[in-house]
Amino acid sequence: MARHHPDSKNKRDAGLAALLREKIAAEGPVAVADYMELCLAHPSYGYYMTRDPFGTRGDFTTAPEISQVFGEIIGTFLLENWRDMGAPEKPAFVELGPGRGSLTADIWRIAEKAAPDFYEQADIHLVEISPVLKERQRETLAHLKGKVSWHDSIDDLPQDRPLIVMANEFFDALPIRQFVMEKGAWRERGVTTGKNKGFAFTLLPEKPEMDLPKRVKDGGVFEYCPAAEAIMQKLAAKIKAQRGLCLVIDYGHDDEWAIGDTLQALSAHQHADPLWDPGERDITAHVNFAVLRKAVQAAGVYATDVITQGDFLRSIGIEEYAGNLRRQARPEQAKDLILAVQRLTSASEMGRLFKVMGLSA
Ligand SMILES: C[S@@+](CC[C@H](N)C(=O)[O-])C[C@H]1O[C@@H](n2cnc3c(N)ncnc32)[C@H](O)[C@@H]1O
Repeated sequence: MARHHPDSKNKRDAGLAALLREKIAAEGPVAVADYMELCLAHPSYGYYMTRDPFGTRGDFTTAPEISQVFGEIIGTFLLENWRDMGAPEKPAFVELGPGRGSLTADIWRIAEKAAPDFYEQADIHLVEISPVLKERQRETLAHLKGKVSWHDSIDDLPQDRPLIVMANEFFDALPIRQFVMEKGAWRERGVTTGKNKGFAFTLLPEKPEMDLPKRVKDGGVFEYCPAAEAIMQKLAAKIKAQRGLCLVIDYGHDDEWAIGDTLQALSAHQHADPLWDPGERDITAHVNFAVLRKAVQAAGVYATDVITQGDFLRSIGIEEYAGNLRRQARPEQAKDLILAVQRLTSASEMGRLFKVMGLSA
């Protein structure tokens, strides 16, 4: 796991774990969503707030970190779509949760070569909560200085210009609520203190206030991500008012009422217990694309069908694009390109689990 302050690990662990124990002692168990929010985004101890988690020495990798081919081919696709919209003036390019900034850098490399009119007029708006990653993005995008600005939330995005929005592995990092069917009734899942100074799942006393799936067997888990739905509602409303398009790529499914527990933690590229070491592990959940799609359509914005990443990347020509690059590459680079395309598209790797949805207005 990449750590910026290796010697502060114990202090940080003690910090968030101690804070959670105090909160639970004073107020009772916390909902899973509150636990996830604290673990990922607590200003001092949150996982994303304290480190750069990417790469072989980190906890996980993402498509833009696997190969620049991902961002370049997506850049080509976004620019074609901007042109199809009639190339509206002064677009604001937005990335939600840009990580190291690699995807934006790859998209803008293509824009500089293939769409100088876009490159000249557009600027870059990064929505990011992590101070460590903001710094990393500043380094990656140093050559685009003057064009880039940062925002803590989508509320602060430009309000008078078309938006071209990219969200890769952003929605999976937002806190989910979990509900468990027990003895024929839904109960919200919470987190409480457990043995050996650890934490354990529990059920919250309050009756869930929202509509939940019917005819589910005991033990079934239903997940709902209020933040994802709220962000998509706002984003779709902005796109409706200002024109624009958005591409959402993430792991997830397209079944609004899906039953299943997808809360997971990753540490050093291995699955890990999400209740252990709070704040030190990446915690995510699968994205419910059906809920996002409904939010988009309710705002009067067109949403594409949800398709797999493999089908999407093949349909926009990743194989031909990588093939052209391979012909000019050294043998070692050519081999890396083949492996990268396979990793991004094959059903047994990222090709099937990851889904893609586009929206435009
Ligand atoms: C899994 S990473 C994906 C990074 C990048 N998109 C990529 O594909 O490499 C999630 C990103 O979202 C950011 N993030 C998490 N929660 C956020 C929030 N509520 N608002 C803005 N950014 C957030 C993280 O700091 C990180 O940059």
